[in-house]
Amino acid sequence: MATRTPGRTSNRTGTTGRGSRGKSGDGSSGNNADGGATAENRTAEGQAASEKRARSAENRNENPSRGNEKRKPRSKESRSAFSFGDNSGPLLGAALAGAAIGFAANYGRKLLMQGMESMAGDWDEILATEHDMALAIFDKMLATDQSQTFKRKMLLMKLTHALDKHAHQEEMVVYPALRQANEQHDADLLETEHGHVKTYLYALDQMGADSPIWLDKVREFRGFISKHMHMEEEQVFPRFKQDLTEEQNSKITSLVNRDGFWMA
Ligand SMILES: [Fe+2]
Ligand SMILES: [Fe+2]
Repeated sequence: MATRTPGRTSNRTGTTGRGSRGKSGDGSSGNNADGGATAENRTAEGQAASEKRARSAENRNENPSRGNEKRKPRSKESRSAFSFGDNSGPLLGAALAGAAIGFAANYGRKLLMQGMESMAGDWDEILATEHDMALAIFDKMLATDQSQTFKRKMLLMKLTHALDKHAHQEEMVVYPALRQANEQHDADLLETEHGHVKTYLYALDQMGADSPIWLDKVREFRGFISKHMHMEEEQVFPRFKQDLTEEQNSKITSLVNRDGFWMA
């Protein structure tokens, strides 16, 4: 209020004081006819504005709940999209129950899958079983034709998962153990070949299941990975295993099963 210009202060005053005096014919403000008319207009506008403000204040005072009624919808609209509201108990309970069932089902599936594989025996026998399972998927892929794009995609997905799990068990357990037993060269060679396996999987995924060279690529891939598997099964793993104590052998088997469980 203190910073208002004198002119604005004058207009404001005119609506309540000088305007009234002008209306009543006061000479100090009514010497100029236009000025008197302007003062009258300002007075009328000022009164209308004052009455409007007074009515608003009365409405708020008379009906305080009205303000609350207006605020309620705003409060509802402004709620977060992540707000579940007052009756969220059953909803959250159902969500938690669903998550628990899903977790238990996934846990059971992993247990079943790795449990079946662990029945194969020691770590090298488990890995050899996985080799056979992967080669069986390759054979199903090679038995498809160009029109069976959906089947090809499903088989490629299954093969990718199987090889990913298998490579993880070897890279996280067996190859490090090989390096500790001074088999660094073979461990590094085999791990490098796992990189080529991923490149084959990427190429098949990118070329599309209806590609005319899809079968050729699968055949080439199978030949490459079969050679890798033979090296593991017939050279590297037997040589490594024959120097292991029973305790070391059991430990590697246990670690391969544990890793396989989480990757299943
Ligand atoms: Fe391997
Ligand atoms: Fe292998």
